[in-house]
Amino acid sequence: MDKIRIVGGKPLEGTVRISGAKNASLPDVCAALLTDEPIVLDNVPEVRDIRTMGRVLSQLGCDVAFRTGGSVELRAGTLNSVEATYDLVKTMRASVLVLGPLLAREGRARVSLPGGCAIGARPIDLHLTALEKMGAEVSVERGYVEARAPRLRGAEIHFNTVTVTGTENIMMAATRADGVTVLHNAACEPEVSDLADMLTAMGAQIEGAGTPTIRITGVDRLKGARHRVIPDRIETGTYVVACAVAGGDIEVQQCHPEHLRSTIEKLRETGIRIEEGPNNLRVRAPRQIKAADVTTLPHPGFPTDMQAQYMVLMSQANGACRVTESIFENRFMHVAELQRMGADVRVDGRTAFVRGPSALSGAQVMATDLRASACLVLAGLAAEGETIVDRVYHLDRGYYRIDEKLRGLGADIERLET
Ligand code: UD1
Repeated sequence: MDKIRIVGGKPLEGTVRISGAKNASLPDVCAALLTDEPIVLDNVPEVRDIRTMGRVLSQLGCDVAFRTGGSVELRAGTLNSVEATYDLVKTMRASVLVLGPLLAREGRARVSLPGGCAIGARPIDLHLTALEKMGAEVSVERGYVEARAPRLRGAEIHFNTVTVTGTENIMMAATRADGVTVLHNAACEPEVSDLADMLTAMGAQIEGAGTPTIRITGVDRLKGARHRVIPDRIETGTYVVACAVAGGDIEVQQCHPEHLRSTIEKLRETGIRIEEGPNNLRVRAPRQIKAADVTTLPHPGFPTDMQAQYMVLMSQANGACRVTESIFENRFMHVAELQRMGADVRVDGRTAFVRGPSALSGAQVMATDLRASACLVLAGLAAEGETIVDRVYHLDRGYYRIDEKLRGLGADIERLET
């Protein structure tokens, strides 16, 4: 298993290019199942989760070809299976995104339940009740969701919790249902809008994506399309924090600042100087980082996927603050590792109390999930001495070549291949 070795204390300078959004590419790839015509997606990050989703689609009979330069060609001419098996779904919960498209296209689907996940229970009950409202018969047997519906029909769906993949799954299902589906309390994340843009290019009729109410009028068939995936807003935010904790002055290119408005505002509150261009950010580390409370919320609030990175920033800030996680239970697993590096953090329920600035010292640490591992890399940049981050495969699930990108900015970081 690869490890990453970082020697902290080197300020960052230069430019870094942001990759396409993993969390937009995942549903976009699945949308290819809704048509038998070719789909081309550009700006797809070559990260492990996308490869895994490629395998899920290949198992169904969809042709999937990754081209150099970040394009993926997909063609679901005829499908030879409607099953997403446990061995793939267990490694990536987002595989559940094939459920809606398969049901809409083939009238049935069999998808393994994702099972336990390191960041809390993360059920899919909201996906299933919405499909039932659309006329599907859904049962759970031997760890698999079995769903059938000769033809889905439009329905009024009220999500009692904001769910990103739930919104995406049902939006895809509704594009080919009979009649109109209205999603209430829908997720407003930019990735939902990106999927809606792609589906619209395929001929779907969708209004209101990016707002809490989305209205989809079903059509008989969808056609092929070419679509460019939006930049990754979480990767963008991660590099802004990297610059702040390592010190320095960097330019973050090929990003979309509007998609991380609340993140940028919160990071400015901590003293980081951020100048915005239409597709780039200039970031200058402050002499002193200020402490500021934060609570994670659905978009447009501060994203839970930035919480672990923000905690590293706060460990370097002057003063005390509260970091409250309102989306997921059990998303503080990075805290124990940060404490080992010298951070002053105390967790009480869903709130972490962080007091800074702490002089972090390099250590051997273990990544537990995707964003937690990014936070350990950031802590390594801020720490004195050598940090070894183990279980780097978590990082590789969602960050495209983070070690190379940080090295390009002058960090002392290398991948130890084993
Ligand atoms: C997506 C993102 C993930 C991000 C999360 C929240 C992808 C591939 N992943 O995950 O990176 O951290 O949004 O922004 O886009 N819930 C239920 N029942 C359901 C569905 C969800 O109770 O049927 C709960 C979850 O347990 C959680 C909350 O709703 O507490 C939000 O989860 P959700 O938005 O569904 O997360 P994902 O879509 O899995």
